[in-house]
Amino acid sequence: MVKIRAGSAADAAQVAAVQRESWFAAYADIIAPAVIDRVTLPDNGARVRQSFRTRPRQRMLLAADTAATGPDASEVVGYALYGPETDVLNAPWPHPLTADGAGGRVAELYALYVRPAWWSTGTGRALMERVLARTGAAGYQAITLWVLRDNERARRFYERAGFTPDGATNVLAGLGDILEVRYCRSLELDL
Ligand SMILES: CC(C)(COP(=O)(O)OP(=O)(O)OC[C@H]1O[C@@H](n2cnc3c(N)ncnc32)[C@H](O)[C@@H]1OP(=O)(O)O)[C@@H](O)C(=O)NCCC(=O)NCCS
Repeated sequence: MVKIRAGSAADAAQVAAVQRESWFAAYADIIAPAVIDRVTLPDNGARVRQSFRTRPRQRMLLAADTAATGPDASEVVGYALYGPETDVLNAPWPHPLTADGAGGRVAELYALYVRPAWWSTGTGRALMERVLARTGAAGYQAITLWVLRDNERARRFYERAGFTPDGATNVLAGLGDILEVRYCRSLELDL
């Protein structure tokens, strides 16, 4: 059983472990294993903490295993990072905010990862529902995300959550020229 709770930089080490495990499982046929190894090298959460510094308006939601006990138990089984939309297409990392992001009109889901053992248990959906509720309540009118073109499982998941591709594409040179596509979803209520 998982509960969704707010996370912070204090959870960075567990979040980084979830990221590494899910990258190896989800991207094995898309990104070279040596690249995955390098990009997710265990660092006790330093990169995740850094992401809070480069994106001060970033928020994190965690899916926590309510049955996990003991000092070594891995409580965090999934996480979502979101905040204002960033300008992925026109400026290098760390991407500045777009005008719609800075103005609080368009949000971005920066990351959504679930440990493979917890896939297909509703964990991702629970995280997504909370992200949509939080960003909608914060007044954003739409939310975007970037997903690897060949990540079919995640694309299906996002389409079920109401996202559609908007035609924008981007090449991730640092990962070996991997193509990602942008999805978008309205947050406005159907009245
Ligand atoms: C993509 C990912 C986050 C989805 O998480 P998940 O916990 O497996 O997702 P869920 O169990 O909530 O959803 C999957 C199932 O719920 C159902 N579902 C999810 N959202 C739904 C919705 N909004 N409406 C109806 N059904 C839905 C689907 O039937 C699906 O069933 P299936 O997996 O048995 O085919 C997860 O697979 C993951 O971490 N993948 C690797 C990392 C990744 O690719 N992240 C995206 C990077 S951009």
